[in-house]
Amino acid sequence: MPYYSEDDIQRVIESNDIVDVVSEHIELKRAGSNYKGLCPFHSEKTPSFMVSPSKQIYHCFGCGEGGDVIGFVMKHLGIEFPEALELLADRTSIQLEKESSQENNEKNNKRNRLFDLNRDAARYFYNNLRKNRVAYNYLLNRGINDNTIKAFGIGYAYDTWEDLLNHLKSKGYQDSEMADVGLIIERKNKSGHYDRFRNRIMFPIINTKGKVIGFGGRVIDDSQPKYLNSPDSLVFAKGNNLYNLNIAKKYSRGNDIILVEGYMDVIALFNYGIKNCVASLGTAFTPNQAKLLKRYSNEFYICYDSDTAGLKATDKAFDIFKELGIDVKAIVLPSGKDPDDFIKEYGKSAFLRLKNNSLNFIDFKIHFYKSIYDLTQLEGKIGFTREIAKTLKNVKSPVEVDAYIAKISQETKISTDAIKNEIYGGTNNYKNKTNPKDKYISNKYRNNNRERIIPVKHNLEPGHLNAERNLLSLIINDKKIYAKVKEVFTPSDFLNEINRQIARLVYGMYEEENSVFEDKIINSFEGENLEKVQSIINTNIQLDDREKIKAVDDFIGKIQRYNLKIKKDEIKKQIEEIVSNNEKTEGDEETFKLLCSELTRIERELKFHR
Ligand code: GTP
Ligand code: MN
Repeated sequence: MPYYSEDDIQRVIESNDIVDVVSEHIELKRAGSNYKGLCPFHSEKTPSFMVSPSKQIYHCFGCGEGGDVIGFVMKHLGIEFPEALELLADRTSIQLEKESSQENNEKNNKRNRLFDLNRDAARYFYNNLRKNRVAYNYLLNRGINDNTIKAFGIGYAYDTWEDLLNHLKSKGYQDSEMADVGLIIERKNKSGHYDRFRNRIMFPIINTKGKVIGFGGRVIDDSQPKYLNSPDSLVFAKGNNLYNLNIAKKYSRGNDIILVEGYMDVIALFNYGIKNCVASLGTAFTPNQAKLLKRYSNEFYICYDSDTAGLKATDKAFDIFKELGIDVKAIVLPSGKDPDDFIKEYGKSAFLRLKNNSLNFIDFKIHFYKSIYDLTQLEGKIGFTREIAKTLKNVKSPVEVDAYIAKISQETKISTDAIKNEIYGGTNNYKNKTNPKDKYISNKYRNNNRERIIPVKHNLEPGHLNAERNLLSLIINDKKIYAKVKEVFTPSDFLNEINRQIARLVYGMYEEENSVFEDKIINSFEGENLEKVQSIINTNIQLDDREKIKAVDDFIGKIQRYNLKIKKDEIKKQIEEIVSNNEKTEGDEETFKLLCSELTRIERELKFHR
């Protein structure tokens, strides 16, 4: 009988976040670092069904059901393992390969052998360190204490060619296995192998399951390369792992995680009691690493070296986090320092102070572009302003944009009008927004121009997104539903941008052509968006008419509730903004009053929706 390989199964589990998958079936609410909902497997009125993003499991404290994402789908849809696996593989466009059970077992055995081999190598390096004064002193001189050496299992590879090779051989490992994980390298004349790591401090890289998957090695003199890493192997993929996540995840429960550049940064920070740090493994930070991190925290900081390369890398990492809707800030170190230098020189509390003063995305961009452009020169000012304008274009909160425009204008002495022109492309868009009444309160509650008030940086909850998607599927697949929905719900009520675009197309087609042409929708999207659109179109919700209407009501209720919550937050923020502004104008006072009465209205409406 064909089996799916453990590799494929792991890939499917890793790419299907359990919170996303479960929220496609039941409504989940955040509860601390977990999510909570009504158990679909037994009848209950108060939620006892928990989903853990960090453990990627679900568990019901009412009925005792529990398992991983595949288990959930099996149980919920009443299907067998292979079917659930295929469904989830489909969901994230993974190609599955069937293997015979024999192949499957062989691969598993091989993987376990390689884990053992790496562990034995790590132990060997660790013991070597105690026997080599120079190596041990190197660490002591860098301020690394014995507890830290133990916590990371730091070791040393002798300055010889076959030392590790012979040791592992004596433990029964084959040359080919050692070569598979890159601990030894074949000689050019094929007359045997030699050790990859020689005369290096060794940092074992341990995954979240506690397995040694590879090594980083640092020279203790100034030879090159300074760092050497294990190559990718059956048990090691650099882009999918992070150094020290095994330890950081224990300290991140409900707290933050700090991303740094190097092994020694992680270790130095740990040495000073900051244990929630991870480093990408000698490569650029990847989306898969961000996805992995998302399982263990909601709050992230990037603290890279303060040189140009570090700033560029921070900028890239920001984009990767943002793309996944993850909130992140940058800790900016004084010039020429990395976290290791900084904490040694200034100590833990200074580092934590820097962390408290970390920069959001826009402030970071300002800092970054200031380092690139010379603001004492006209050309530099223009280049700088253009870059920031590009960033501000995507900020939806008018108050925030305004505040930054003022700030940039002050720094560059470029007029606020010119900056606005740069942002809004010289159209009079902005003029419409500057009438204070319109800007804050506007007609959007009375229907037009609703989108502006919605701040982009709100992360839509999985349950909410799901309600939008399901509502869209129902509308697309049933004209009668559309006729009912359009009375109360317009395209701009969809908070997610893609969903909003689809809704516009669909509503337009119903109005103009009296039916929906799926091809037209599909042709309007591409790439990742196209996949989302296709999954919405292909979702066929099997309900009878009465059930459909009830479902529609539920979805709309859910979306509206959420909509109101966002508006409430936004208005509160604007009120705070005015309150904390020391130079209030008359217009501000007027706006303030309007905002307050709007807040009361929304709160009343929210009570009604509850
Ligand atoms: P120390 O000099 O030990 O303090 O290291 P550092 O962390 O300050 O080093 P640096 O900022 O130069 O490098 C940061 C990270 O980039 C390291 O931890 C490595 O993962 C990686 N790296 C640095 N140099 C090399 C290299 O020569 N080869 C490879 N593959 N990776 C490197
Ligand atoms: Mn350093």
